[in-house]
Amino acid sequence: MRIDIITCLPKLLEGPFSDSILKRAQDKQLVSIVIHDLRDYSTNKHKALDDYAFGGGAGMVMMVEPIDRCISHLKGLHNYDEVIYMSPDGELLTQSIANQLSLHQNLIILCGHYKGVDERVREHLITREISIGDYVLSGGELAAAVLSDSIVRLIPGVLSDESSALTDSFQDGLVAPPVYTRPATYKNWNVPDVLLSGHESNIEQWRYEKAVERTKIRRPGLFESDL
Ligand code: ADE
Repeated sequence: MRIDIITCLPKLLEGPFSDSILKRAQDKQLVSIVIHDLRDYSTNKHKALDDYAFGGGAGMVMMVEPIDRCISHLKGLHNYDEVIYMSPDGELLTQSIANQLSLHQNLIILCGHYKGVDERVREHLITREISIGDYVLSGGELAAAVLSDSIVRLIPGVLSDESSALTDSFQDGLVAPPVYTRPATYKNWNVPDVLLSGHESNIEQWRYEKAVERTKIRRPGLFESDL
């Protein structure tokens, strides 16, 4: 898979992709994440990427031209399955969306800033808009990192224990059951006996019951949603 991320703040994206699972996935060549600095596509002598909103009002708007030039350049090199714009008014990211996107070959993710992008970007260049939650971030970069992480960890071979992505919270519409590790007793805080019993089917049953119990208490809405 290839993910091209378009941003006017490329430094913000250096951290998340240079460590842990996202780095290992790139090292193993299971994914290629390429960051594009939008300023490289500006024809403006000051490399400006934004301008005042027509009609007035506070806040600057990202201009259509550099974004169009960047996306057109990329489209000349690869076929993209989706061109995603990170936006607080996009569809809310769920495990199901991450699952769908992980099956694609090539994705473009555009990070917005300031007051947003010129509406013509959304009308003509974007195929999908995704939000990572009902709150407003200063820009789309952190949201793009969250989205990329949720996708990349699902690519076969990325996680060392392949089954672990399938047992994540939300994959079966339930949150994850509690987990414990050694020591079995710490300050008189004990690990449930069933987990020490070695009885696989009892352990599986216990985990399922705990996951259902936790989902009912913490995320009752998951029972009704289409994860
Ligand atoms: N850009 C700013 N806020 C955002 C959010 N909540 N999700 C995605 N992109 C954003």
